Amino acid sequence: MSPNLLDVENVNKIFTRGGLVSRRVNHAVNDASFSLAADKPEVFTIIGESGSGKTTLAGMILNSVAPTSGRILFRGRDLREVRSRRDRLEFMSHVQAIFQNPFDAFNPLKRVDRYLFSAVQRFTECRTSEAEERVDDALRKVGLSLAEIRGRYPHEMSGGQLQRVAIARALVSNPSLIVADEPVSMIDASLRMTVINLFKKLRDELGVSIIYITHDLATAYYISDRLIIMQKGRVVEGGDARTVLAAPQHPYSIKLRQAVLSVDDAWRDDSLTGDMPVMAT
Ligand SMILES: Nc1ncnc2c1ncn2[C@@H]1O[C@H](COP(=O)(O)OP(=O)(O)O)[C@@H](O)[C@H]1O
Ligand SMILES: [Mg+2]
Repeated sequence: MSPNLLDVENVNKIFTRGGLVSRRVNHAVNDASFSLAADKPEVFTIIGESGSGKTTLAGMILNSVAPTSGRILFRGRDLREVRSRRDRLEFMSHVQAIFQNPFDAFNPLKRVDRYLFSAVQRFTECRTSEAEERVDDALRKVGLSLAEIRGRYPHEMSGGQLQRVAIARALVSNPSLIVADEPVSMIDASLRMTVINLFKKLRDELGVSIIYITHDLATAYYISDRLIIMQKGRVVEGGDARTVLAAPQHPYSIKLRQAVLSVDDAWRDDSLTGDMPVMAT
């Protein structure tokens, strides 16, 4: 049997602070487990309030935070074995990250197209003459083009556009998994759907699996195939998104459902691209 794309197995992360006398222990992620199949691209959502451990879990999946215990396998390989420069680069070509604030991901003094050319240089063996085509290809997958963004600086773009450039950069290496940590929470409400819809398109047209991390109930409901709900480091509920929402067990998921039902009608219309209701969590 071929291995899963991703296995998260009984993963814990405990942060300790202070000395022997006043030691503070923070169980940021408590026994998390889930898997993504290799042959079935999906949007897998991790939802939870601020401080529930989402970013810590993302960091472990991206192999930038080491679990205290448990293990994470990517295509059957334990991430602890991915250590050499070469292995890390190869891992990064398969698993890419998108962060909350695109303005933090780009140096304000550097033209944004440079980032795409660097990614092409780093991850592909294409000749310089082909680089422009590669960059343009990646940008077209996110609804932009090289002609549109060439020579532009981050501040000359909207947050939504810049986040799409970040996604284009992530696509250069043809990843099979994108981990997007609160990718639309800093983006104007009116532009959020362009980014959210893009994740669905990447799943359907490029076969990329997406781990979508959010505290926003409305986008989670709209985009997820499956989801897990985290609270204080624990996965309190999980499964098929519609099933979880139809019969929520945990108080947090009941809250989720109530919030979703009140906007359900608005979300039923797939053509919706306008303002997104911002949900309280
Ligand atoms: N590097 C760190 N050192 C100590 N504590 C941390 C660190 N990173 C996160 N935490 C703590 O772990 C918990 C989970 O944080 P985080 O994963 O950022 O949650 P979320 O992304 O859901 O808001 C919080 O209590 C946070 O303060
Ligand atoms: Mg976070």
